[in-house]
Amino acid sequence: MIDNDAARQNNAVDGRPDAVQNRFGFLSKPPSREELVTNNGIILYLEDVTLSFDGFKALNDLTLYVEVGELRCIIGPNGAGKTTLMDVITGKTRPDSGSAFYGQTIDLLQMSEPQIATLGIGRKFQKPTVFEQHSVLENLELAMKSDKRVWVSLFKQLTGQEKDRIEEVLNLIGLTDSPRKMAGSLSHGQKQWLEIGMLLMQDPLLLLVDEPVAGMTQQESEATAELLTSLAGEHSVVVVEHDMEFVRSIARQVTVLHEGSVLAEGAFDVIQEDPIVRQVYLGSS
Ligand SMILES: Nc1ncnc2c1ncn2[C@@H]1O[C@H](COP(=O)(O)OP(=O)(O)OP(=O)(O)O)[C@@H](O)[C@H]1O
Ligand SMILES: [Mg+2]
Repeated sequence: MIDNDAARQNNAVDGRPDAVQNRFGFLSKPPSREELVTNNGIILYLEDVTLSFDGFKALNDLTLYVEVGELRCIIGPNGAGKTTLMDVITGKTRPDSGSAFYGQTIDLLQMSEPQIATLGIGRKFQKPTVFEQHSVLENLELAMKSDKRVWVSLFKQLTGQEKDRIEEVLNLIGLTDSPRKMAGSLSHGQKQWLEIGMLLMQDPLLLLVDEPVAGMTQQESEATAELLTSLAGEHSVVVVEHDMEFVRSIARQVTVLHEGSVLAEGAFDVIQEDPIVRQVYLGSS
């Protein structure tokens, strides 16, 4: 696997790449909506991104733009490169070539994974990773604190503003009735929402969500569609999902990946009728 991390880190001053350090003195906290440069309405630029694993191109000259506040669905057959794409955006994996910018000025390929995590890019993996032995409320509190040591965080007093934010997020994720419930006793769907809630505590500008409705009941899946739809606008949301009913219910801009490249892009109804898409992906439905 290609790993340019060490080489990239060598360009860093005080752990930060030169270009970023000079332009973004505020990087100790995530850029606010005003600070991120999105004059032309785009929050994420991926251009000509190629990534090979032992000669196999998981991403192949992939170009994709995500607009500020949009809810984008990414679909595609198994192995199309959807998760790898998220790995590239979050700095988990480096591409061999191409570029990835967050706003017009932040070069993601010049930053380490922990640095990217501080930029307001939140990622939800498929498996929920909540603190099972803690309550819903405590999980949200922990997500908000910069010091992640459980006991340090939980003994700190919450400010009024923090309490308001927790209230707001509980409401968004539909868990207002169970703030004291142990996370471990929540349903699978509720755990997924709690984890989305934990990401929201950091007020991310861009949310990446990988297969959120896998394993959910129909009802949970519908509630998730509603949740993600309500987050768009305030946040930019990229959702990878196989469940076509779910994608249809969100019915926004859809990008179809195939063999590491963008095969088609457009409204769900248009994509669904595209003969090439049907052939590689929807053909069986
Ligand atoms: N670390 C790795 N080493 C080698 N090959 C990898 C690695 N990560 C991913 N791949 C390969 O890259 C391709 C794209 O994988 P990826 O996980 O991005 O697909 P995906 O579109 O998310 O698929 P799925 O819908 O099954 O989740 C696959 O063929 C996968 O086997
Ligand atoms: Mg995947």
